[in-house]
Amino acid sequence: MTQSGAITSKMAENRTFPPPAKFVEQANIKSLDEYRRMYEQSIRQPEEFWGKIAEGFHWFKKWDKVRDWKEPDVKWFVGAKTNVSYNCLDLQIEKGRGNHPAILFEGEPGDVRKITFKELRTEVCKFANVLKKLGVKKGDRVTIYMPMIPELPIAMLACARIGAPHSIIFGGFSATAISDRVGDADSHIIITCDGGWRRGKVVPLKATVDEALEIDRRVKQVVVFKRIGEQAKVTMKAGRDFWWHDLMKEASADCPAEQCDAEDPLFLLYTSGSTGKPKGIKHTTAGYMVYTAFTSKMIFDLKPNDLMWCTADIGWVTGHSYVVYGILQNGVTSLIYEGSPDFPNWERFWTMIEKHKPTVFYTAPTAIRAFMKQGRQLVDKHDLSSLRLLGSVGEPINPEAWMWYHEVVGRKSCPIVDTWWQTETGGILITPLPGITDTKPGSATRPFFGVEPDVVDRSGKTVNVNEGGLLVIRQPWPAMLRTVWGDHDRFKRTYWSDIKGCYFTGDGARRDADGYYWLMGRVDDVLNVSGHRLGTAEVESALVAHEAVAEAAVVGMPHEIKGEGIAAFVTLRKGFTASDELKKALDAHVVKEIGAIARPDQIRFSEALPKTRSGKIMRRLLREIAAGGDVKGDTTTLEDFNVINKLRQDDES
Ligand code: PRX
Repeated sequence: MTQSGAITSKMAENRTFPPPAKFVEQANIKSLDEYRRMYEQSIRQPEEFWGKIAEGFHWFKKWDKVRDWKEPDVKWFVGAKTNVSYNCLDLQIEKGRGNHPAILFEGEPGDVRKITFKELRTEVCKFANVLKKLGVKKGDRVTIYMPMIPELPIAMLACARIGAPHSIIFGGFSATAISDRVGDADSHIIITCDGGWRRGKVVPLKATVDEALEIDRRVKQVVVFKRIGEQAKVTMKAGRDFWWHDLMKEASADCPAEQCDAEDPLFLLYTSGSTGKPKGIKHTTAGYMVYTAFTSKMIFDLKPNDLMWCTADIGWVTGHSYVVYGILQNGVTSLIYEGSPDFPNWERFWTMIEKHKPTVFYTAPTAIRAFMKQGRQLVDKHDLSSLRLLGSVGEPINPEAWMWYHEVVGRKSCPIVDTWWQTETGGILITPLPGITDTKPGSATRPFFGVEPDVVDRSGKTVNVNEGGLLVIRQPWPAMLRTVWGDHDRFKRTYWSDIKGCYFTGDGARRDADGYYWLMGRVDDVLNVSGHRLGTAEVESALVAHEAVAEAAVVGMPHEIKGEGIAAFVTLRKGFTASDELKKALDAHVVKEIGAIARPDQIRFSEALPKTRSGKIMRRLLREIAAGGDVKGDTTTLEDFNVINKLRQDDES
């Protein structure tokens, strides 16, 4: 079923792994019967279920109705007033967590900061007042382009405090990508840094913002946090650019939280689709708040003394939900690391675990595979005994990586939660519950409360056990996206038109006889490169924007570490010839247009692209060719697809 080039397992692993007895004893949910009863209710009586869960939160005003569902539009906690920053901070302080660390930060150079819930609230309130003073009002979109430092969650929570939705752009995206997102969100303010540390070098974030603002000039104000100092060499434009520390000096620490409507937008987050430019996924206030807090508590089994280390960048949805919002709402400390896992060497993560003693560690299969390649001796040297639970996210985890994670990092004593979800879902939808689920390496196991998945064929009919099909969700859950920013039609088209009456995920899956889900990768033209989502169309349009390129087709290819790599087939305009220099130039061009995550693993020149009679590029064929081998360095042979075209196969891609 899968069309992606995701790696397939070489290893058959049929064992199941029950939760260790020691874990079960202390788990938040430890009875399978209790799970079954709760799950049944969550599906049959979602309003009663979620209404009860929501009782534990802070509301300025309670809801009139828990759910209002008119496909494809849903509202949760209709009529309620709340504030997510209040629930992350003030509520925790009221519960006596004020002096407990909310954030434990380690910068790449090794600097460490501990920020308590009280201190975090002070910083958030001050920065919220800074935003207000700059004229930011409820509903205004605030763009954030920052490295993984505490000021990033401070800026997010400040936005949430005043009801201004944030739009965070991952620090690896290029100036063009920033200007596209700023333009689409019609955002007039950017929060950034002079730079961030990555592998010992300065990432020039402010300079990239300057470049972006040359392309789209609507941004009136830029706030710059000084992370680096001298070495960053920034230029500040008078009247437009302000230093964070200057503005904070005068800001008051008193900022009552805005009473937001349950359905007020909390944030936009851009993600790739199968066509066109990235879309702004809109998440709203109350449903997202309740869902991320509850999933965090149940799936990561959070307790007051846990230290959660989710290694995802806050620029992706995983960081939004499980570095910041879900974790802080549980009064739990979130460990934030600024830099790269291989700096100064591949022991960085293990050294950090030994030092800071996180209890829950949540990372991506691509990282696990990279660690595997370095060898277990680097892990074995360190004391990882603080860890009690491991998580995986972002892409299918191959059984080899699962087993290595279990044996080497988890020392066979930590349950692994392989969590399936998406930017659009806001929180985890399919996952083990660590105290009750017997895990099977490579399976995300069962749906979370309130989630009703199914595997169907193109006509929407449920397929048989163990048959591949399309993964859909049959009813809305609280953290479901509400729309695509500025394009409700695209929202309907993308998620609600392929399979009638269901949310279509874009993923292929199969369900086994135990009701376990096995994710099989994307079935559309979306790639998953190192757990990062990229549209083939985006990379293609970056390539054709180069003067030498006539036509481009991009497909996924299996990649040992990244899971999926990028293969680009390119035909050249008259007057240009294939060469290594041109390959390098195209490489650099894609990086400039999108960012380093989109750098092609292979660029292959060809005379023509293989097409069907109706002119569609035969992607399936290209995927097969790309999977066949690396052609790096071999630029002289042009692949002659004319032959294939002459055969005029009717193969629809
Ligand atoms: O294909 C699925 C894959 O990642 C896609 C969502 O990507 P994104 O919106 O960037 O969010 C990633 C982090 C939540 C999905 O459509 N995916 C995510 N988690 C898993 C996964 N595939 C298999 N197993 C997972 N655990």
